[in-house]
Amino acid sequence: MSRGLFISFEGTDGSGKTTQYRLFAEYLVSLGYEVVTTREPGGTPISEKIRGIILDPENTEMDDMTEALLFAAGRAQHVAQLIRPSVEAGKIVLCDRFMDSSIAYQGYARGLGDCVRIINEYAVAGMQPDLTFLLDLPPQAGRSRNVKAGKADRLEKQAMEFHSKVYEGYKKLAEIYPDRFIVIDADGSIEEVQARIRREFFERKATRSE
Ligand code: TYD
Repeated sequence: MSRGLFISFEGTDGSGKTTQYRLFAEYLVSLGYEVVTTREPGGTPISEKIRGIILDPENTEMDDMTEALLFAAGRAQHVAQLIRPSVEAGKIVLCDRFMDSSIAYQGYARGLGDCVRIINEYAVAGMQPDLTFLLDLPPQAGRSRNVKAGKADRLEKQAMEFHSKVYEGYKKLAEIYPDRFIVIDADGSIEEVQARIRREFFERKATRSE
């Protein structure tokens, strides 16, 4: 059986990535692909428990390195239990956030640096996304969406400066890994942004299979 595909969706808080990845999943299913949708932090029962600890607004005393290691721990379980077996079974795995979130949030914005990439390389054991959609929306616009809706979690409550660093971190990652990253302008209606994702996906797929 041929290997499937692993696609991650990344972006700042409120960039619309969750809505977009769900729509994209429905679209791929309608084309007949076998699709697995999942998310981080979370994705398996153990990883969802870890998610609860990380995002709990009461955990104000959490150390930055503890946070980075918890994200990586949840990810290791997620890769071992769900992502790798699904990709090896030939499915398309769509993941709402993956390792690049840790590099942007914990590495760049928290300032933990390159150790975050190293920790995560151990956690994912070679399971890197084949493609990563970066939903590009400047943080000011993104933040106001969730804060207005009154559903900010522990990480979304960070200062504006933090979210600007996350955004810069993502932009740097897209420069470092141009073969894997597809930067999508996330300013527009849901339909417009979805159309951009579909177009880029098929363009990239066509170039890869040439
Ligand atoms: P999530 O609930 O998926 O929020 P969103 O709807 O914005 O995607 O993620 C929760 C928060 O966790 C979000 O602010 C991003 C952050 N995060 C990290 O800091 N590092 C990570 O490795 C991951 C996966 C998420």
